[in-house]
Formats: sequence, C-alpha cells, structure tokens
Amino acid sequence: MTTETGVNLAKAKSFLESGELVGIPTETVYGLAGNAFDVNAVLKIFEVKERPIFDPLIVHVPDIEMVMKCVVDIPALAADLIASFWPGPLTIIFKKKNCIPDLVTSGLDTVGMRMPLHPLTLELLQDLQFPLAAPSANPFGYISPTSAQHVIDQLGNKIPYILDGGNCSIGLESTIIEIKEKTCFVYRLGGLTLEDLKKVANKVELRINSSSNPKAPGMLKNHYAPTKPFYIADINEVSFKYPDKKIAYLFFTKSNTAYFQNVESIALSTNQNLKEAAHSIFSLMRMLDGRNDIDIIVAETVPEIGIGRAINDRMRRAVTGI
Ligand code: TXA
Ligand code: MG
Repeated sequence: MTTETGVNLAKAKSFLESGELVGIPTETVYGLAGNAFDVNAVLKIFEVKERPIFDPLIVHVPDIEMVMKCVVDIPALAADLIASFWPGPLTIIFKKKNCIPDLVTSGLDTVGMRMPLHPLTLELLQDLQFPLAAPSANPFGYISPTSAQHVIDQLGNKIPYILDGGNCSIGLESTIIEIKEKTCFVYRLGGLTLEDLKKVANKVELRINSSSNPKAPGMLKNHYAPTKPFYIADINEVSFKYPDKKIAYLFFTKSNTAYFQNVESIALSTNQNLKEAAHSIFSLMRMLDGRNDIDIIVAETVPEIGIGRAINDRMRRAVTGI
C-alpha cells in the first residue's frame, strides 16, 4: 500500500468511512485513527501498531454530544474540566456504553475520551458520524510522532492516508485522568499541567504507573524508547566510561554542556523554555536515534514543574538501563 499525505479532508473521511486507517494531526502527537464503532477498523489499529490488545485506545470526539453517546454519565467535575480544557491535551476516563467495542478499551468498562485541539482534525471529526479511536501513530513502545514525516517513516506503507497538519504544537501526549467521587486521579502526565488541573479540581491525586505490571499498559515503565541506548546520567561520567563511543547529550541547563570530545551537546531549548523542550524532545530523540554517527543518547532531566513533569516522565520511560 502506498501512503498519500495531504490536507484533503474529504479523502480522509472517505477512507475512515470505509474502515481504513488515517494518520491524524493533533496538538499533542499524531494519531493512528480508525472508526471507534467498527471492531474491524479498531483491530487494524492494533495490527498496524503491533500493539498488544491489552492496551486500551483513546477515543477522539468533536463535541460533548458525541461523549454523551458513548458514556454512561459525565461527573460534574469532568464537565467543569471539559469546559476549561477542551479542546486540548486532556483525556478523561468515563464509564462506557455498549457502542464502544470492548476491543477499544481492552475489556475495561471505562473509555478514555478527548477533544483534540487541531483545526484539521476537529473539522474531520465534525464531518464524521462516529468518533475516532487513535493511539499515537508509532510502533508500540517507540517514540511518538510529532510530524507527518515521522508517521511516514514508520507506518509509511501500512496506511493509505496521512492528514498533514504540520508539527504538533505541544509535542507530548495528553494528560490522562479519571474522576472518582470528586477526586481527579492522574494516570499519565502530559500536555495539560498539574498546576492547570488544580485550578479547576480541588482534589488531585497522582496515580502514575511505573511498575512493570500496570493497569494501563501504555504506562509501562519502558516506553517512548529509542532503539539506541538512552540514559539519564552525568554526561561527563558517561563520556569518560565510553571513550570510544559517540555520545549525543540532550541538555537543558546551559552550564551543563559537556567537555569531552566524544560528546555532541544539543539544547532541548536554547532559552531554557519548558514548552519548547516539550515541543522538541521527541523529534530530537528520533533524529538522534536515526543518526549513524551517534551510539549513545544521554539526557538531562528538566525542572519538575509544569510540563517539565511530563518531559521527565517520558525521559525516564525511555531509559534503557545502564
Ligand atoms: O495525546 C494523546 O493522548 C495521543 C493523541 C493521538 O490523542 N494519544 C495517545 O494514545 O497517546 P496512546 O494509545 O499512545 O496512549 C493511550 C493510553 C493507553 O496506553 C492507556 O494507558 C490509556 O491511554 N488508556 C486508554 N483508555 C484507558 C482506560 N479506559 N483506562 C485507563 N487508561 C486508559
Ligand atoms: Mg503511545
């Protein structure tokens, strides 16, 4: 199958209506989308991504009416969060209705839903009679794609169409939450910061899964990982330990550039801006993973505030072990 890329919404719509998959842009990362009501389309998503079927998918909607079609009820706090943050990088987990196939939710009785903030994808969703199940458009376990080219690089011959919406503005996946008895449980840190969540939700509790046996396997400890060794470590120790290796160093703090010759230092953000670091981290990891002249990637964590928490989370999950 050859993959076409473009901004033809009618084409994307017609592929989706006939049960095919389409790469879609969002403000977080690119998604691999299919009709969420069609088990066969959903099955294709798992096949193309080589994703284990125990890892549930997020369902993307154009409006609250579509949420109401798919879920049993919308808790008051969820409605407040929707009013404040949708469209945007917030996935909310609800009790599902039967129209959402069990395959989408890996047998759970809950479904994660979000309204993405991207003009092309919102228009597409508004034109469809069904919501779109879409995981990030990367092979399972690899770094999420933040441009159409990233999707072509890995899923190129496996899907018919990619809607090209440019580079993702945020660059990290959505924050995933569930409301239980007026408490907001956070399962994945992402594009929406804890600080922002706390402006609307009085009780916020972190339930970030870092075990090897999580309830939601997308939060598996090792995920978002390049194929090359990836470490969070003192760059000078690593370069001293591996003098014959070419090492790339993703740094955030200016004064931390390395002084060894086998190290190439690359700024996550030239002006130490966390949003810029979030925007560039996945594409830098991907670029370095693809370079033949780099053997090892080392990264420096960023301040644990705002979107910095999500950046650090992704870096830690990418670590291959030292
Ligand atoms: O930003 C995003 O969320 C992107 C874009 C495409 O929207 N999507 C994304 O999907 O990151 P994915 O499949 O890579 O990660 C979704 C994760 C799953 O791995 C799972 O951990 C969690 O969402 N999830 C989905 N449904 C769930 C449920 N019912 N209960 C708990 N976790 C759930
Ligand atoms: Mg993913």
